[in-house]
Amino acid sequence: MDSGAGSNLLRALGGEAVWPPPLWLMRQAGRYLPEYRAVRAKAGDFISLCTTPGLAAEVTLQPLRRFGFDAAILFSDILILPWALGHGLAFKEGEGPVLPKLRDMTGLGALDPGRLPGAIAPVLDTVRRVRAGLAAEGHDAALIGFAGAPFTVACYMVEGGGSKDFAATRRMAYAQPELFDSLVGLLTDATIIYLSAQAEAGAQALMLFDSWAGVLAPSLFCRHVTGPAARIAAALRARFPDVRLIGFPRLAGAMLGEYAAAAGMDAVGLDTATSPAHARRVVPEQIAVQGNLDPMALLAGGEALRAETGGILSAMRGRPFVFNLGHGIDPATPPEHVGALVEMVRAA
Ligand code: CP3
Repeated sequence: MDSGAGSNLLRALGGEAVWPPPLWLMRQAGRYLPEYRAVRAKAGDFISLCTTPGLAAEVTLQPLRRFGFDAAILFSDILILPWALGHGLAFKEGEGPVLPKLRDMTGLGALDPGRLPGAIAPVLDTVRRVRAGLAAEGHDAALIGFAGAPFTVACYMVEGGGSKDFAATRRMAYAQPELFDSLVGLLTDATIIYLSAQAEAGAQALMLFDSWAGVLAPSLFCRHVTGPAARIAAALRARFPDVRLIGFPRLAGAMLGEYAAAAGMDAVGLDTATSPAHARRVVPEQIAVQGNLDPMALLAGGEALRAETGGILSAMRGRPFVFNLGHGIDPATPPEHVGALVEMVRAA
């Protein structure tokens, strides 16, 4: 495996201090690219783009052609899993995702894991097409599959969309623990099935996005973030020992070290707010770290981009590391700034 395409990323995730570090960016396929906007317009709505394999594979490959990243990330969305379980989902222009609010056992009972195999089939077809496209076009990049972590997916299902503090979700976790544990448990089982299928279809690494992990109190963090991550990692490890696992407990703060030590991932993603020096102290040396340039420094460009990038590179030299952003790329980012970043990291 290590000598094949994408080996720089896979070696770094496997614990080697590869230098210059491999590089890819969260949301590297997206609205900042004119070629993405053209395909997006052709697809009509966002869910159709995610579930039409020819178009999803095309937008997955677009940033590789421009920038030669070390990884492609499957083009889909974390909310495709609840959609595949039969929970409604729509993306409203300028509003983000809108879902029905899951607030009781009836809502939970309506979720249907039996729908999964049929509903995720187009996503698996995209994975196969991207692997074939990477080989056919000669990109030296690994393919990363992904899912939302159970807690973050539950956040969107309970609130019915985004929220500034996910208050209804956190309240449910305390006030209706049986309901919330059952929801997180069901999502954990479904995530294992979903990520296993992506690995079987050809994903070489899998990332678990826990974007809202940081809204939880420490006791609930262990129960709903680290615990499910550990169960997912153990199940995948047993079946796919060569597939590398990345956990991203965004805004985990003081819980980062414990997550890194207990979740069983090969790598942890660092958010924008985490200092590289702190990450070096609390993440065990054999676990790779990935991150964490501020997307706003990339948007700003120039001297700020150079200084921030240089600071991260010098802090991470000598340990297993993958260069990335601390959160998704902003749609207003000039593509030339991304080109300049790639040059800086390649010259490290
Ligand atoms: O990174 C990639 O290039 C791969 C594809 C990907 C998307 N979303 C495409 C997308 C991935 C890995 C995600 C993850 C995702 N989706 C997360 C976790 C990471 C994070 O950002 O915290 C979350 C919370 C979501 C849910 C989601 N999807 C929201 C809140 C929104 C609306 C906000 C927005 O940026 O428009 C989306 C839509 C979405 N997902 C877009 C893309 C490219 C924009 C849709 C469009 O093109 O109109």
